[in-house]
Amino acid sequence: MRAAIEAHDAGADVGVVSKLHPTRSHSGAAEGGINAALGNSAPDSPESHAYDTVTGSDFLGDQDAIEIFAREAPSDIYQLENWGAVFSRNDEGKLAQRPFGAAGSPRTVYAADITGHVLIQVLYEQLVKRGIKVYEEYYAWKLVEDGGRCRGVIAWDLLRGGLKAVAGSSVILAPGGVGRVDRVTTNAYACTGDGTGMALRLGVPLKDMEFMQFHPTTLYPTGILLTEGCRGEGAYLLNKDGERFMERYAPNALELASRDVVSRAEQREIEAGRGVNGNVMLDMRHLGAEKIISRLPGSRELAMTYAGVDPIYEPVPVRPGAHYHMGGVSTDVDGRTELAGLYAAGETACVSVHGANRLGGNSLMETITFGRRAGNAAAEEAYIAGSPSEIPASALADAERELGRLLGRSGGERPWQIREELGESMFQSFGVFRREEPMRQQLETIAALRERYASVVVEDKGAVFNSDLTQALELGACLDVAACMLKAGVERRESRGAHARPDDYPERDDENFLKHSETRLVDGEIELGWTPVTITQWQPEARTY
Ligand code: FUM
Repeated sequence: MRAAIEAHDAGADVGVVSKLHPTRSHSGAAEGGINAALGNSAPDSPESHAYDTVTGSDFLGDQDAIEIFAREAPSDIYQLENWGAVFSRNDEGKLAQRPFGAAGSPRTVYAADITGHVLIQVLYEQLVKRGIKVYEEYYAWKLVEDGGRCRGVIAWDLLRGGLKAVAGSSVILAPGGVGRVDRVTTNAYACTGDGTGMALRLGVPLKDMEFMQFHPTTLYPTGILLTEGCRGEGAYLLNKDGERFMERYAPNALELASRDVVSRAEQREIEAGRGVNGNVMLDMRHLGAEKIISRLPGSRELAMTYAGVDPIYEPVPVRPGAHYHMGGVSTDVDGRTELAGLYAAGETACVSVHGANRLGGNSLMETITFGRRAGNAAAEEAYIAGSPSEIPASALADAERELGRLLGRSGGERPWQIREELGESMFQSFGVFRREEPMRQQLETIAALRERYASVVVEDKGAVFNSDLTQALELGACLDVAACMLKAGVERRESRGAHARPDDYPERDDENFLKHSETRLVDGEIELGWTPVTITQWQPEARTY
């Protein structure tokens, strides 16, 4: 939505294609806040924000992109505020900022613990105000390339049925992440890597696919997120003995170490038998009822509804869960991909700001800042392209035939079976800790699942709200994306950020792996290459929290 607004304001004729109504975007689940160095709660600067992001990324983030990000974030926040974002305020009446993990200063601007929800409402209002056309409940299935340019998308109309060709001189992919490859995830059912899968199938390179972030506090058993804001406000993590175990893993930052560090600490406690039914406990009792009710009302409600626990009186069981994919469609700092006319922004893109580990609060900000930049660049390219784009009739006919084959099939395996096996096997083999043999086995499992997927059957043959069909298409993206994750994961023979190999390669290896992985589809096979990391002013050093 941020990209669409910017492209519109730059003079482009813009349409938004979305499989959900835009206010149901999963950005609504980014609860705790959005980072910008405003310095409202303590001295801060864009340089400090950039430095924390670089170290948080375990030095895999591209520093030119990170510098732009940290420098432009403050004015983007004030823009959102001017549009009506109701951020929480401090006693001086300024935008309040809370501490978040691995941030050197309280930098996270928030609206209680519903920040993402507030932002999507504000952005949607801005779309409506500008009269930007939203093709809502259209499932974008295929990108169309013709003459070396992206020409638009072919989308399935979820409400009425039928394929529609939506042409565009520039196309910006921004459909979010792919947490649904995993059984335990904070991500909504809609987060199936559709954009990443579409780009891959068109031969566009993906970057750093092995880096899936595990958020330390997801509710048992659903995986619903309990915001890092709880720890930002002072919540503790306890093991079964009531020990505040982060003192052993990150003696300075404790619960506010970076997410990869906290998730690993939790997993170690659980694996050492010091967990509670496969969880650790998030204790907020000492914060008091008033603080919990005023600053963390959503978290309290989630804990009460989905875990049956009121955090005012009892600790809440939590465990690491797949939360955010640092990898994605490889772009430059203006969202450009390798294919002319194709852009990407938000979680589906890899600029790369987050490198091997994203800091909490940096994803909403990245989506806004790089969404804006992509919108502007895409509008300019559309202007230069001049005449409106067209989708060749043959592309639509090919897609119709492919869909016809899928819907025409009778008898066979249903998509949900494959989806469940994918989620469970990813959970077992590609979680907080990764090991060579299970990863290799998982590569084979995914290959076998992709083969089974090729003859999957959609039992519902109807046109209207055919979720059986949508889930089959989504599964195709999940499988392709998972294959890239594992391909890169096996070959990254080191531990960096969220990619932890405790048995065979426990250390970061800058000599051999200070580089981005790059996966692309060539003749139906996933090929792996490597590209350099951009370093401007911060040489790799040890990370200590
Ligand atoms: O914990 C959270 O509130 C999540 C925020 C984020 O992932 O940036």
